[in-house]
Amino acid sequence: MPRVLMLHDESPRCRVVDLPLADLPHRAISVDIDYSDLNYKDALAVTGKGKIVRDYPFVPGIDFVGTVRESHHEQYASGDRVILTGWGVGERYWGGYAEAMNVDPEWLVPCPSPLNSRKAMLLGTAGLTAMLCMMRLEEAGLPPGAAVLVTGATGGVGSWAVSILHHLDYEVHAVTGKPEQREWLESLGAREVLDRSEFEGEPLPLEKGRWVGAIDTVGGRTLANVLARMTYHGRVAAVGLAGGTDLPTTVMPFILRGVSLLGTDSVMIPFERRRAAWQRLSALPNGLFERMAVDEIGLEQIEQRAEDMLAGKVHGRVLINPKK
Ligand SMILES: NC(=O)c1ccc[n+]([C@@H]2O[C@H](COP(=O)([O-])OP(=O)(O)OC[C@H]3O[C@@H](n4cnc5c(N)ncnc54)[C@H](OP(=O)(O)O)[C@@H]3O)[C@@H](O)[C@H]2O)c1
Repeated sequence: MPRVLMLHDESPRCRVVDLPLADLPHRAISVDIDYSDLNYKDALAVTGKGKIVRDYPFVPGIDFVGTVRESHHEQYASGDRVILTGWGVGERYWGGYAEAMNVDPEWLVPCPSPLNSRKAMLLGTAGLTAMLCMMRLEEAGLPPGAAVLVTGATGGVGSWAVSILHHLDYEVHAVTGKPEQREWLESLGAREVLDRSEFEGEPLPLEKGRWVGAIDTVGGRTLANVLARMTYHGRVAAVGLAGGTDLPTTVMPFILRGVSLLGTDSVMIPFERRRAAWQRLSALPNGLFERMAVDEIGLEQIEQRAEDMLAGKVHGRVLINPKK
């Protein structure tokens, strides 16, 4: 019987239980899960602080990596290593906080062979999303070596964005509310570390243009301030809402500086783009994985770590080993 983290809409909200295999959802592919991880959306789901989960009881976890145990679909065979991210898994469909789960074949991508399971989930949705942001900036003409700003830099998406941008020889400027993580951000490749407070003031329509590109995981006033500080024809990949869902800006950055705001989504992106992004991620050198800050926990620790994440006490990646 696989152990799962089951969410209930009554106290206690989180319970780790043994579930008979027959009680898992009836879907074509059965996966034995090696690792899942903790993302901002997971933290909202687990704590109930965001309206992510509507039907209870529910197994959260928006992503996982594992091995196919049984397949009733021609696309996958027993023994295949697979990654799942997005598609509403961990929101509408039971997810990865479990030793095993049954899923639809369309939700999976083959795990590229250079990535072992641990590396695949060190990346997880966060690494995939950072790479998708990178691809959006490249497609919008980001010049080689350009100065690029990353907000929420110590978070999962943010820290992978810093690492990937540095690896690709961009000049990385990192914005963080955790000054104690300055040295770590510099070790990931940040040339400059800026304090979050510099981006939290009342945004002006335009300020001195400093950055040619940006990856924003924060939204709200921070994104408005980022837009006002982009150079002519700058481009901003907007991906997150850790600082709010509003956008108190004006049209000035767009009509006077030709700034592009590039929405970036990882949940519903088509298979081929997912696979292309995972291929690029699988080619990242080992050093990037070694420098990532990792906290490996079991199912029992998820609830506390989710609270910590929303309280801003987590940096880097939280890896979940369901067998721990
Ligand atoms: N569109 C998509 O498909 C997609 C995919 C993945 C993630 N996301 C979104 O991207 C964001 C980051 O996700 P994640 O999993 O990387 O989360 P995370 O690990 O919790 O990182 C979020 C980071 O944002 C900063 N932050 C937190 N609260 C803030 C606040 N009130 N004001 C300003 N900055 C704040 C913190 O970094 P510092 O302390 O360094 O400032 C924090 O580490 C979330 O909003 C998530 O929903 C979207």
